[in-house]
Amino acid sequence: MPGFDPLAFGELAVKRIKERVEGEALAAVSGGVDSTTAAVLAKRALGDRLHAVVIDTGFLREGEAQLVASSLRSLLDPEILDRSDRFFEAVRDLSDPEEKRKKFREVFYSVLSEEARERGVKWLIQGTIAPDVIETVGGIKTQHNVLEQAGVRSLERFGFRVLEPLVDLYKDQVRALARSLGIPKEISERQPFPGPGLLVRCLGRCGPEKLSTVRAVTSVVEEVFGGLGCSQYLAAAFEEGGFRRPDLERAAEVEEVRELSARATGVKGDQRRFGLMLAVSGIDYPDRAAEVRRSLIRAEPRAVRVLVEVERRSSGEFGVAARAVTTEDFMTASPCLPSMEILKEAAKLAFSSAPKCGTFYYDLTPKPPATIEFE
Ligand code: XMP
Repeated sequence: MPGFDPLAFGELAVKRIKERVEGEALAAVSGGVDSTTAAVLAKRALGDRLHAVVIDTGFLREGEAQLVASSLRSLLDPEILDRSDRFFEAVRDLSDPEEKRKKFREVFYSVLSEEARERGVKWLIQGTIAPDVIETVGGIKTQHNVLEQAGVRSLERFGFRVLEPLVDLYKDQVRALARSLGIPKEISERQPFPGPGLLVRCLGRCGPEKLSTVRAVTSVVEEVFGGLGCSQYLAAAFEEGGFRRPDLERAAEVEEVRELSARATGVKGDQRRFGLMLAVSGIDYPDRAAEVRRSLIRAEPRAVRVLVEVERRSSGEFGVAARAVTTEDFMTASPCLPSMEILKEAAKLAFSSAPKCGTFYYDLTPKPPATIEFE
């Protein structure tokens, strides 16, 4: 971050917001560092002319909307807008990851547009950062908070102008800025959570049962992996199903390899791609984890992920994969390898809190070839 002066940046950003925004402005905060920092700058510039809202999309983690609103009460005093039914209805029949992301973005801005019109507000302040624009415009994945740069004319379409004070910054700069603004550490250092939330952690169609399964297991993963020092930890849920691959069992010298029927995202070069997930069991974990994963991906180039099966039970309709990674910049990442004892403890808790979870896996794959999220 050479040459980045958060104090000077913050002062200039506040000055620019004051100069540009006439009347009132709306800011949707998720509790993540980007949207909170943008809203705090706007609050400094506009005072009571800023309306902060937390949109409950229904794809947030357990109790998250209330938690975010209460932790931001003194800084921004946001109002919770519960629009969960609306988001759910719009995406419930979609299975393609990009279609899901685009539909989510459409509903997100429709909600904000109605809110802005009702309140007579003409400006939206949002915490879009440089990688959001690069990824959306580059066709890697559609971020929910990129509009103008993706060719959407916000004033005509939604009735507001958009101001993005952080659009030239990267995550580490935003964190430094947040610290310099006195934003609490739980927010300035918070692990990322995708805008579309659990929607992109339900692989394929996101019905109510898959959603409640992934929500319950996410709480387990955050509790069990939270103290391990990883940069990000998460869970994804998908329909069970798959078949054995004896060719891969021979190639990697492992007891059992299954090709799962669910698909997940990965990256190759700077392109995102949808690929296979392979599940192994009976390996010497963690000692052989990296070697087995490498041999399998070499033998099956369509694979973007290798999961190790931690625990299986006879009931349950969803597979759940937990993932924890360390990363500097989120462009590349290495899997953390917690002990099998910790993974089994997580599986046990997952089975007791998510009755529909039938198999608990752990993801052994770095980025690339996998992405951090599963979609
Ligand atoms: P991937 O899955 O592309 O994720 O390796 C890289 C980082 O970006 C986060 N992520 C998102 N953040 N909106 C966000 O604000 C999104 O749609 C989104 N998708 C992924 C992801 O959690 C990881 O930290």
